Amino acid sequence: MPRKIIIDTDPGQDDAVAILLALASPEDIEILGITAVAGNVPLALTAKNARKVCEVAGRSDVKVFAGCDRPLAHALVTAEHVHGKTGLDGPDLPDPTMLLQDQHGVDFIIETLRVEPSGTVTLCPLGPLTNIATALQKAPDIAEKVQEIVLMGGAYFEVGNITPAAEFNIYVDPEAAEIVFKSGVPIVVMPLDVTHKALVTAPRNEAFRSLGTHPGTVVAEWTDFFERFDKEKYGSAGAPLHDPTVIAYLIRPDLFTGRYVNVEIETQSELTRGMTVADWWRVTDRAPNAMFMGDLDADGFFALLTERIARL
Ligand code: BDR
Ligand code: CA
Repeated sequence: MPRKIIIDTDPGQDDAVAILLALASPEDIEILGITAVAGNVPLALTAKNARKVCEVAGRSDVKVFAGCDRPLAHALVTAEHVHGKTGLDGPDLPDPTMLLQDQHGVDFIIETLRVEPSGTVTLCPLGPLTNIATALQKAPDIAEKVQEIVLMGGAYFEVGNITPAAEFNIYVDPEAAEIVFKSGVPIVVMPLDVTHKALVTAPRNEAFRSLGTHPGTVVAEWTDFFERFDKEKYGSAGAPLHDPTVIAYLIRPDLFTGRYVNVEIETQSELTRGMTVADWWRVTDRAPNAMFMGDLDADGFFALLTERIARL
């Protein structure tokens, strides 16, 4: 039976590839809805981009909701320097024709978790955790109904990408992250330690391009766009494809290894706000609260991604 999920996202080219991977995998994944959040770019753009992505896959039937337009306690920090002005720069895509749902994304999350049988819905946050935390605050009863939260965010050995100490998704809304990590819901984390190994090298991007399909070309062009920034920054062989690791984990958990450890979120310090303090070496007696991934089989990951994108 496919796993029922809600994708919570701030597209973002890598979010977009994650959505396509999920849409291309109906035997593994049933998308109940996509909730947009402010992150890489403001909410109006992420809500629009999520719909553009569905239309790239010819899936205007997917329900897309707009959620929170700002973090819980601080002003929004965006990442146009990485993702471009629209958040989805690269290929020239038409404005979506499908409509945004009227319901607020947070209410959709709450309602879905209340209606579906307990333990059957997985939340997949690919951006700041504002929508998820707001849902947990507004409706504490949903915590025990979530099957699992599989999220992209944080870092331990790789430390930070938006500040020296913090990864973008957690940095943008650390108060929300703290609520999520303290919620008691089973959590799987794809931190930079994993995603910095999911590099789109030239041959891997060529594999997308040479699929010869519209979605294949679009994926290659998204990557071409945001890799210019990462290559400059990290001098790496290609851009990290962060968010699709979350969806890949649902399909092929065997591609990932990690440790079940305690993860706390720094919310106070000016210097290290948004840091994920992961007790990787288990040097405290703080109770483990998350499966914190550390490694992936990158070739297996890209083989899966290419095979699935080819189906669209
Ligand atoms: C995360 O930040 C965003 O820019 C990406 O979409 C990803 O979710 C990586 O730090
Ligand atoms: Ca994202």
